[in-house]
Amino acid sequence: MSSFRPALKQTFDAADQAQAGALPEVFMTRVVVCGAGGFIGGHLVQHLKQDGCWVRGVDVKAPEFGPSAADEFLQLDLRDRSACEAALSVEGGFDEVYQLAADMGGMGFIHSAECEIMRNNALINLNVVDAAAAAGVPRYFFSSSVCIYRDMEPGEPELDEVQAYPALPDNEYGWEKLYAERVAEAYGRRTGMAVRIARFQNCYGPEGTWRGGREKAPAAMCRKVAEVDDGGTIEVWGDGTAVRSYTYVEDLVDGIVRIMRSDLTGPVNIGNPEYVTVDELVHTVAEVAGKQIGIRHVDGPVGVQSRNFSNARIKSLGWSAKYPLRQGIALTYPWIEAQVQEAGELAGGPGR
Ligand SMILES: NC(=O)c1ccc[n+]([C@@H]2O[C@H](COP(=O)([O-])OP(=O)(O)OC[C@H]3O[C@@H](n4cnc5c(N)ncnc54)[C@H](O)[C@@H]3O)[C@@H](O)[C@H]2O)c1
Repeated sequence: MSSFRPALKQTFDAADQAQAGALPEVFMTRVVVCGAGGFIGGHLVQHLKQDGCWVRGVDVKAPEFGPSAADEFLQLDLRDRSACEAALSVEGGFDEVYQLAADMGGMGFIHSAECEIMRNNALINLNVVDAAAAAGVPRYFFSSSVCIYRDMEPGEPELDEVQAYPALPDNEYGWEKLYAERVAEAYGRRTGMAVRIARFQNCYGPEGTWRGGREKAPAAMCRKVAEVDDGGTIEVWGDGTAVRSYTYVEDLVDGIVRIMRSDLTGPVNIGNPEYVTVDELVHTVAEVAGKQIGIRHVDGPVGVQSRNFSNARIKSLGWSAKYPLRQGIALTYPWIEAQVQEAGELAGGPGR
């Protein structure tokens, strides 16, 4: 079990809801984080708690790597409209709803689970925003993705948010996110709810999925490097030239909360403006691990060839990425290495 998460709180399931945690004090900002059992949602809960909010976490599953820092945690399936109503119901109402729940994963999952992604995420996004509007929630945040943008050529000038149109996302995950952005904005126009939307670049950090097929590239590379000896070789999907940027999770949650509490309407990109190839990502991980690593390129789903997005809107809120890739990987690799070792020990193996 990870010792990374500092706060110790109780976990509740849906049946406990009536008895769940003490009610928030009237002066506290009352917040719901949907997807709080996941990677970014879990870190967002910690950030909001440090900020003095009263937080209800909601997810279909309990957090995997330790107890939630939320004041209460409800296990609910947000594809179900009545579950969304339960999630957002509290005496006096909630001030903010952060919608991060999604059926998602890295490129392997995005390419193999198109129907699940389209169906489950549309149901979640339709029902949560509808329930939030019906409950009179004043501020609503939706977590979108840079997957809504078209593919780019390496070296192409950066795209700003309005250049998402005419739309040509590379995969169904991106199309659903684009649709869900529009649904949230339509509810905002109809009800006056302040809707805030961020398009996340790839995010990484401790307590993210690191194995099982849903992990994203930085976690997958950290795991692969942790699993081989110094001088070993790892497999990398594609030819290693695809260009991405990777945002450390603390930078991302800082950006989320800034956007939520700002006057910025319309989608806002959040991302570390440090673009690297997949091979450069592997070299960074290997350097942090102190290992010489060879790369064997193999066939596999890679996604778009290149990314380059404007951060002018998020920067207008005083945000900047505080963690360069090397520093973020130095904080992430030891956590994943410890998970790999623990898993190896549990399996009775050498625990590499
Ligand atoms: N991680 C990234 O790099 C990245 C990039 C762009 C966008 N995003 C978006 O940010 C959000 C959070 O991503 P993450 O990396 O923390 O993913 P994650 O998979 O760790 O978290 C998502 C959470 O949603 C929960 N969930 C799924 N179906 C649910 C349901 N029916 N009811 C309730 N909860 C349900 C999952 O159990 C999971 O805990 C997602 O919307 C994702 O699409 C993430």
